[in-house]
Amino acid sequence: MKQLVFIFTTAISICANAQNPLAIPPILTGTTFNLAVQSGTQSFYTGTTTPTFGINGTWMSPTIVVNKDDSITLNVINNLTVKTTMHWHGLHVAPQHDGGPHQIINPSSTWSPSFKIRNNASTFWYHPHGAGQTDPQVSKGLVGFFIVHDAEELALNIPHSYGIDDIPLAFQSKEFDVLQQIAIAGEMDTALFVNGTLNPTFDAHAQVIRFRLLNGSSLRSYNFGFSNGQTFYQIATDGGLLDTSITLTRLRLSPGERAEILVNFTGMQGQNLDLKSFASEMTNGIYGADSVGTGIDSIPEYNSNFLNGTDFTLLKINVIAPTPIPITTIPNSLVTYTPFNIANATKNRTIIFDTIRLLPADAPNRAEGPFGMNNKSFDMDSINEIVYLNTTEVWTLVNKTLVAHPFHIHDIQFNVIEKGGMPPTATERGWKDVVLVMPEDSVKFITKFDDFSNDSVPYMYHCHLLHHEDDGMMGSFLVLEYPLNTIDISDKNNFSVYPNPSSNYWIIKANDNTVITAYTLSSIDGRLINNVSLYQNNSTITIQNSSLPVGQFILTIHSKNNTQNFKLIKQ
Ligand code: C2O
Ligand code: CU
Ligand code: CU
Repeated sequence: MKQLVFIFTTAISICANAQNPLAIPPILTGTTFNLAVQSGTQSFYTGTTTPTFGINGTWMSPTIVVNKDDSITLNVINNLTVKTTMHWHGLHVAPQHDGGPHQIINPSSTWSPSFKIRNNASTFWYHPHGAGQTDPQVSKGLVGFFIVHDAEELALNIPHSYGIDDIPLAFQSKEFDVLQQIAIAGEMDTALFVNGTLNPTFDAHAQVIRFRLLNGSSLRSYNFGFSNGQTFYQIATDGGLLDTSITLTRLRLSPGERAEILVNFTGMQGQNLDLKSFASEMTNGIYGADSVGTGIDSIPEYNSNFLNGTDFTLLKINVIAPTPIPITTIPNSLVTYTPFNIANATKNRTIIFDTIRLLPADAPNRAEGPFGMNNKSFDMDSINEIVYLNTTEVWTLVNKTLVAHPFHIHDIQFNVIEKGGMPPTATERGWKDVVLVMPEDSVKFITKFDDFSNDSVPYMYHCHLLHHEDDGMMGSFLVLEYPLNTIDISDKNNFSVYPNPSSNYWIIKANDNTVITAYTLSSIDGRLINNVSLYQNNSTITIQNSSLPVGQFILTIHSKNNTQNFKLIKQ
């Protein structure tokens, strides 16, 4: 069946057979970064014009390079005719600087977050994150690396020369429609790009090369390996270096995930090899494996995509002469790694991935969606979870669907503690911000929410399959400073409010027999929910809240000579 379909796509494959030298994104250094988001065109296939987006150019984005503890400012200038947002994926920053769906950058305006780099050395990335707009903008070229160095990493005898022996590789598979436009949410993503180069070739020096692998695809997972069976060494996961390097011949990365690997090409000058995805070895249910779902619960046309379940080349490598002072050995021990301690966890939380019915007529499909989290679809105006600052939590991700979803959470890095009830493999120990949750399986991770709290600006968690994220497989959480029993905004303690936070009702009691005459309940952004006048002498009132959404509310209490505001939390 795959052969038949191959004939159908031959026209594209022939033009695409030409090999192109791998582009290395230019680097930006310093403490002020100007990022002008703009549109333009590229000619990927002879005689065609494809509209694209880029930063400081018309296609793809430059690499930002910073050091831990730097205080930086990023000026994101929106020269598009549409809104955008810019998210620093993996970086530990305050929610108002995070670039999630709430930090909209209108056309012709500039967004300038400033923050200190608190993450350890690793390979992060940045991309737009507009509600429903991530895939359209990422697929059109808005993908950049965000590299953090730190003293411990710089002291290691590993490659550090960007573009020479330290090479970023962003992998994206795209679908082109009949007009050679980049298709959105395309499931015929058969054009393979690395750093925005179609069918790339790279000249690798005959020495140890550090590759920073980023899966920037909308849907596809890759199972990396080399055509000659060459071993390689993983030195970093999403959010930091490992304590020791791991010897591998395969490494799977789902969308959003990164890894750094070392490959020793010493003595191989003159040889050619391919970096491939051995997708035939990937477990079914992962997008890019042989199948996703079965029967009516499957993705229509999935098998028409000839890349699914087959092994294919991502990057052709020619080994050339070494540099004058090459690194030729692989270090075994890397950095100190202190994971979160399970004994410190004080809160458990469960996120269930399942299909969701948005309209009564919907017939959700367990392979195709639409998918939600905890039976909700993303809503810009509601908060799904409340987290308290400095709490160590264990999150359990339960996937009830037939497709593997890469779960990503903003703000923090986590440690996977269980996958399908087993400890994670070596490649998933270490600092992570994306974890692939297999079909009908579960994952537990531990993390701590420190440094940043904000009463009204949430962080996101979501599936990093961009099609699912844009469809609403995303939730939001606020990090609040403390779980107060009574929060009296006006700072007079005439009343007590309990329980707060609560999930059924709040009781408000006047401490000095003050008579409550009326109260108003409104949302944190001032929308009225309830306005009640009392005709009897009350010193205690009860407010049912089980039908309210999770989040914060303002209660205004009117008494004889006084009006006071309280912040209430529904959990
Ligand atoms: Cu890489 Cu919330 O995204
Ligand atoms: Cu992110
Ligand atoms: Cu998903």
